[in-house]
Amino acid sequence: MIALKTPDELELMARANRLVAQVLRAVKAEAKPGVSTARLDAMAEAMCRDAGAEPGFKGYHGYPYSLCCSVNDEVVHGFPRPEALREGDILSVDFGVVLNGFNGDAAMTIAVGQVSPEAKRLMEATERSLAAGVEKMRPGMRLGDVSAAIQAVVEDAGFSVVRQFVGHGIGRALHEDPQVPNFGKPGRGVELKPGLVLAIEPMVNAGGYEVKVLADGWTAVTADGKLSAHFEHTVAVTQDGPRILSLP
Ligand code: MF3
Ligand code: CO
Repeated sequence: MIALKTPDELELMARANRLVAQVLRAVKAEAKPGVSTARLDAMAEAMCRDAGAEPGFKGYHGYPYSLCCSVNDEVVHGFPRPEALREGDILSVDFGVVLNGFNGDAAMTIAVGQVSPEAKRLMEATERSLAAGVEKMRPGMRLGDVSAAIQAVVEDAGFSVVRQFVGHGIGRALHEDPQVPNFGKPGRGVELKPGLVLAIEPMVNAGGYEVKVLADGWTAVTADGKLSAHFEHTVAVTQDGPRILSLP
């Protein structure tokens, strides 16, 4: 069942998602060589609580931290660690909050110092694929239009979209219907209506799309050890087109 949001609910969702975006902006400013991801996690959680919100991921299905920190070949759901980030790493950070009963959820991949041209190209293609998906968030379009737009950008750049994890509806729950795959066919799937809110989150691998989950039960890594990037926005369909809620 897909729960469309009222205009009042959209404003509450905008507040939760604005906080997520502000936290991610602060995390990005701090993510330099020599800084640990554990420190970024502590910072994100403190900012969240100071704003009167709860971290959205901590305790969700047992995830133990507030921030997901996935470095290089880690795709999503990596654990924050006490070891320092190194020049050339790419760091995917994913953060969520609950504020006034509504979830915010967004993610970005950050270059730590100078990164390789290939890493830069991967990050840019992933962010562009998210923008292409967002652009389809209009009344009358279908879910498959969003998925196909993402996939086309990624594959035109020579990269692959992860199949095993998908985007999702979001609202009072972090994960609501529908699922939002980052691959699909235009014109298929449910029709998009004003009030639909989706977390769109392409996960893009430099090599093959296969991933595996480590023994910690959470950390997803690329099967071939190549780099992976992840960008996510929470976006509402409005009469006037897409409204990205997760902006600072
Ligand atoms: N953006 C991710 C998702 O929506 C983050 C979830 S991490 C979890 O699936 F720990 F909360 F599962
Ligand atoms: Co999400």
